Amino acid sequence: MTRPKILVTCAVFPDTIERLGTHFDVEANQADEAWTAEQLIARLQGKQGAFTTGSVRIDADLLAACPDLKICANMAVGYNNFDVPAMSARGVLATNTPDVLTETTADFGFALLMATARRITESEHYLRAGKWKKWAFDMFAGSDIHGSTLGIIGMGRIGQGIARRGAHGFGMNVLYHNRSRLAPALEAECKARYVGKEELLRTADHVVLVVPYSAASHHTIGAAELALMKPTATLVNIARGGIVDDAALAVALKNRQIAAAGLDVFEGEPSVHPDLLTVPNVVLTPHIASATVPTRMAMANLAADNLIGYLVHGKALTPLNADAVAARCPWLLASGFLNEYAADHLIT
Ligand code: 8YV
Repeated sequence: MTRPKILVTCAVFPDTIERLGTHFDVEANQADEAWTAEQLIARLQGKQGAFTTGSVRIDADLLAACPDLKICANMAVGYNNFDVPAMSARGVLATNTPDVLTETTADFGFALLMATARRITESEHYLRAGKWKKWAFDMFAGSDIHGSTLGIIGMGRIGQGIARRGAHGFGMNVLYHNRSRLAPALEAECKARYVGKEELLRTADHVVLVVPYSAASHHTIGAAELALMKPTATLVNIARGGIVDDAALAVALKNRQIAAAGLDVFEGEPSVHPDLLTVPNVVLTPHIASATVPTRMAMANLAADNLIGYLVHGKALTPLNADAVAARCPWLLASGFLNEYAADHLIT
């Protein structure tokens, strides 16, 4: 019997490839080559599934050129690389990896906040450069975390994790802004108070961005918003490039309009705005908020489970558009394609 064919678009754990290989004919990119859109399309010919990361764009043009594709499984919770309506229109399932990275990413958000407010990397660069000749009372004096006001924009699972750390661990006064208010019980658990965006920006000592990227959230923080913030405030972006206007932020950091920023994500990454590389009061990390070995393994496993679950058993674990796909392609779930292979194989 023919096995479904899948493309793994990036290098992943060898165990993940091995596991996928027990169910599928796998073409893997363990060399981690950067493919153009045309090369990706060429490799997707005849493939029913794609294992993707946030840097692989799945759009209407690609879908039109890859008629065999039935599922794209993102190894990321964010999925702004997917044109989900276009995928639904073509009956292609989209899946992501929620939950498994929440606490790890919240830990990192807090680490970046601490490093930024306490000027950890800036002072380390100074020390490594051999500039530390004597101690001074105001050397790298930063701002406090404990007892300060934390403003969180985007109060999903990761935002809530950061709120809990701030309120319960550091006695912070937590404010949040979100498209919708949390249920009162959840607000109480996070010890977080809902406020408007402007009040949050004016009041917070530290602003952390955890909002998903969309056209509506593009440049949530630009020159106007930075102008509202306290001159002593810090800004942390662990959400997505494009949530912050990086050029405007570089100007605000240079002019000390805000004290400092911590950035894990960038507009047009892996390129970084050149002015951000020259200002001292910014901590820069290469999109690693979810990067612990257990969490990256859990993300890879969940993406693999989604491919196996859907292509072998007809049901993914964490689908984003299952209803739309089922409505569009009722034949798919009932078809021999998804079921014939399941007769011989079970998820392991
Ligand atoms: C990923 C992320 O590592 O899950 C997300 O949305 O931003 C990161 O955890 C990255 O997107 C690679 O796919």
